[in-house]
Amino acid sequence: MQLQLCVLLLGCVGLSQLSIVFAGAGAHSGSWRGRCSGWLMPNLNQSRELVLITGGAGFIGSHLADELLAAGYRVRVLDHLDKQVHPEGTLPKYLDPAVEFVAGDILDIEALKRALEGVDFVYHFAAKVGVGQSMYRIREYTEVNALGTAVLLEALLENPVKKLIVASSMSVYGEGSYVDGTGQSAFPKQRRENHFTQHNSWDFRGEGSETLKPEPTAESKPCLPASMYAQGKYDQERMCLIFGEAYDIPTVAMRFFNVYGPRQALSNPYTGVLAIFASRLMNGRAPLIFEDGEQRRDFVHVKDVACACRLALETEAARNCVVNVGSGEQRSIRQIAEAIIAAMGRKGEIEPEITGRFRAGDVRHCYADTTLARHLLEYRPRVNFHDGLVELVGWLEGQIAIDRVEDAQRELTTRGLAK
Ligand SMILES: NC(=O)c1ccc[n+]([C@@H]2O[C@H](COP(=O)([O-])OP(=O)(O)OC[C@H]3O[C@@H](n4cnc5c(N)ncnc54)[C@H](O)[C@@H]3O)[C@@H](O)[C@H]2O)c1
Repeated sequence: MQLQLCVLLLGCVGLSQLSIVFAGAGAHSGSWRGRCSGWLMPNLNQSRELVLITGGAGFIGSHLADELLAAGYRVRVLDHLDKQVHPEGTLPKYLDPAVEFVAGDILDIEALKRALEGVDFVYHFAAKVGVGQSMYRIREYTEVNALGTAVLLEALLENPVKKLIVASSMSVYGEGSYVDGTGQSAFPKQRRENHFTQHNSWDFRGEGSETLKPEPTAESKPCLPASMYAQGKYDQERMCLIFGEAYDIPTVAMRFFNVYGPRQALSNPYTGVLAIFASRLMNGRAPLIFEDGEQRRDFVHVKDVACACRLALETEAARNCVVNVGSGEQRSIRQIAEAIIAAMGRKGEIEPEITGRFRAGDVRHCYADTTLARHLLEYRPRVNFHDGLVELVGWLEGQIAIDRVEDAQRELTTRGLAK
């Protein structure tokens, strides 16, 4: 029996209303669809289609490569091994030797053309990743994230593919969704540095001065990017979706929430809260927390993200749309700090440091409504947070973490971006 469902997706600013019709299990590609690597036997009947992952030597891209290889695809990666992510400047050991590596910059059209030869599907993950840093390295972030996407799209004109999937981010929403005291939806704007002194709270207040209650954020929430990084991710997803519509290439923008897991760069102080906290702890220092630590986020394991990305490729009805990828659970940053301290065996020895500081571009609460991913992709996050932490801690043993958090704080403070 075929289940047919219409999801009316009210997209972000400028995104047209999309009517998505999708079919239930069994109507899609293969019988193994819906399961993730570690759960499925490699499908030897796959046609060995070739997938290009830009930025595939990084954290999420390398896990996606594993997921795709396990499902029987051939994988090629284009990456220029950004020093902030790969301090040694060499190919990371975790990258599966079966991956074909093309060294090249996303801004180099010739490298892209070479990388696109014979490719069936593209995942566009190459990006500069860091909210705070994007607020002063504005040109570099805009070049790599927005212009880099433009170069990729021009290269795709000569090498059209069957599907394009772009890594977007929860950051495109700015603040998440809220409801006021009367139960009405509220979409507050970005807070300013004097928010706390004005309201005696880090939270938002409604018209009756009640505290607005955060809710899971769905794809229909209007986008209000609050940092150059977020604006760049929004540019990327819009550019890819416009291109896909115009050239009839099915395109999906995946809005990842806070992704965590092994292989996240430990020496990049601008991204990956859990990796930053772990790096501090490995150096015997306390995790530093902005505001009061009660900000709420959705932490999703990288293997679940990789699975969602593969499902987006294999689900025919996933086209010309944006999809949230989270765990569907929410936690405060303080809880996250306490959990990693405990998992690393430092409880009672190191406490998180709540700084009460505000950082430009940070949002108060934003966590995922994963309804669309569940229905459209049959996505089911499988990694329980505490199991994910145990795995992360296992990986941390044997890693070297250079703690650059204080350098990053100085950069932000001297520019008035952290108060
Ligand atoms: N990690 C998260 O929590 C998260 C959340 C939301 C969205 N995202 C998005 O997911 C994607 C992957 O993120 P990640 O966490 O794996 O980041 P990452 O920094 O680990 O990986 C990015 C990769 O892109 C490469 N790269 C950077 N600039 C490049 C250039 N000019 N040319 C070619 N390659 C270049 C880097 O060398 C790196 O290997 C990014 O687009 C990011 O914006 C990540």
